[in-house]
Amino acid sequence: MTRIIAIANQKGGVGKTTTTVNLGAYLAKTGKKILVVDIDPQGNTSTGLGVDKNKLKYSIYDVLVEGYKVRTAIIKTDYYGLDLLPANSVLAAAEIELANEGKREFRLKESLQNLDYDYILIDCPPSLGLLTVNGLTSADHLIIPVQSEFYALEGLGQLLATVKRVRQALNCELDLLGIVITMHNQRTSLAGQVHEEIKKHFPDKLFETIIPRNIRLAEAPSYGKPISHYDRFSKGAKHYKKLAREVIRRVE
Ligand SMILES: Nc1ncnc2c1ncn2[C@@H]1O[C@H](COP(=O)(O)OP(=O)(O)O)[C@@H](O)[C@H]1O
Ligand SMILES: [Mg+2]
Repeated sequence: MTRIIAIANQKGGVGKTTTTVNLGAYLAKTGKKILVVDIDPQGNTSTGLGVDKNKLKYSIYDVLVEGYKVRTAIIKTDYYGLDLLPANSVLAAAEIELANEGKREFRLKESLQNLDYDYILIDCPPSLGLLTVNGLTSADHLIIPVQSEFYALEGLGQLLATVKRVRQALNCELDLLGIVITMHNQRTSLAGQVHEEIKKHFPDKLFETIIPRNIRLAEAPSYGKPISHYDRFSKGAKHYKKLAREVIRRVE
């Protein structure tokens, strides 16, 4: 059985990509087969997994817009059990090119049918446009990374309204698996406040694991490595490993 998890938040820089890459890596380390799907034209997930986004023969664009078979565009990464459906800036045109197509919200879902993976993780772009809607329409579960900062909850209402619309019209199965606090700085009391605030609004949705701010997590993408391979003894590694265990517990 394949479980599809979208990682979304229309805010940029909240840790979507970092969470996707490292969660993917630690899920793979448990022996599961993982596909990471990049639907952000920035292509950071692809870079973070060591794939040069400027040298792609095929990408998710070819699948979503040109109708290529998904297997044509999937590549193996250097990391055991971890495959990638990459993206690059070409994808930016997709929202416009698909605007008048029928079943445009289902393009991704249809392309991900009958693949042999335990988990498919979809890294969404920082918007609530058609690409994110494709991600949410394809997913069984949603993880929302929230940066530990004063404005953390701003925009969350809009995201949840989109989730509600997607549930009503496109994917009644979509489940909010959890909210994960990222880039937490232990030296400030702000994080504790953010924590309390989220707990108040979503009592049973907050992941117990809180991802700390950790320089090794920020360095790893420039080496094209997940934290599990860049510095597995770092604080960031420890917490993403813990998050992976929590995700498995919630999903399975
Ligand atoms: N826990 C963390 N500690 C330190 N830096 C982080 C952490 N999580 C993400 N970053 C850095 O913050 C920036 C934004 O993170 P990213 O995952 O790309 O966010 P998004 O995909 O939501 O835009 C990146 O430069 C990333 O390396
Ligand atoms: Mg990103």
